[in-house]
Amino acid sequence: MQIHPTIAGLRAALDAERARGARIAFVPTMGNLHEGHASLMRQGRDHADVVVASVFVNRLQFGPNEDFDRYPRTMEADCARMQEAGVAHVFAPSESELYPQPQTMRVVPDAVLADILEGAFRPGFFTGVATVVAKLFNIVQPQVALFGKKDYQQLMVIRQLVQQMALPIAIVGGETLRADDGLALSSRNGYLSADERAQAVQLYQALVAAREALRAGNRDYARIETDAMAFLQVRGWSPQYIAVRRQADLQSPAAHESSLVIVAAALLGTTRLIDNLEV
Ligand code: PAJ
Repeated sequence: MQIHPTIAGLRAALDAERARGARIAFVPTMGNLHEGHASLMRQGRDHADVVVASVFVNRLQFGPNEDFDRYPRTMEADCARMQEAGVAHVFAPSESELYPQPQTMRVVPDAVLADILEGAFRPGFFTGVATVVAKLFNIVQPQVALFGKKDYQQLMVIRQLVQQMALPIAIVGGETLRADDGLALSSRNGYLSADERAQAVQLYQALVAAREALRAGNRDYARIETDAMAFLQVRGWSPQYIAVRRQADLQSPAAHESSLVIVAAALLGTTRLIDNLEV
């Protein structure tokens, strides 16, 4: 496995891969890797000859009061995990390498998709994500890129980026990997105290209860949402949203629509967790 701190170094290595006819799959990350990331990297091998991963904590997608400075940076352990997952090339640029000048040219996603849910609570988040992913796509030029359904809205923003900009990249969505109790794996789980970690499964439980209600034929979406919010509130959480939405566009569904997803974000103490379940 080769680690490339510079764009030029990565490009030279990937040009050589392409010259021998290799297809490239790409998994962008912010590091502090867990099995969810590793599963995307392993899936990459099913779609291409060479898997490229990036590790870059992207300042552009963090709000002024968010956790950019304390976001965990664990490059050594990450490299062991990527090696084990079969990654051939790691792109790990410094901030001055990826953003030598302030990144004033931005990719602004459609507000209809990007200003709701996550975007409503994290203004500018999806512009930061779309901008760095577009830049990484231009550097890596993969045939395939893999993103987790854990970040459901992000995956949809990336699909729209590729479609609207006619990028020749197939986007693959990977299933969410969970801990044994059901908690979705996340780098931010590391912020939880032992007590909070034991409690964190309640977010998943709230989603499961909402899914069961939908499966049982309940179509009172507003009631399902307020019940799920109340379930968390009485247990000491501060839920930001729990919403029943269409899988196709994340807008509110009419009664009797199928292909739904329940998306949620909630604070446990100071830690913000997100999760979702398709129905
Ligand atoms: P990061 O949070 O590191 O996630 C990298 C990729 O791993 C994303 O596609 C995310 O959806 C996926 N992932 C995270 N947890 C997962 C889980 N439990 N199961 C399956 N996949 C999971 O998402 C980002 O970084 C950034 O926004 C990025 C796209 C790299 C742009 O900076």
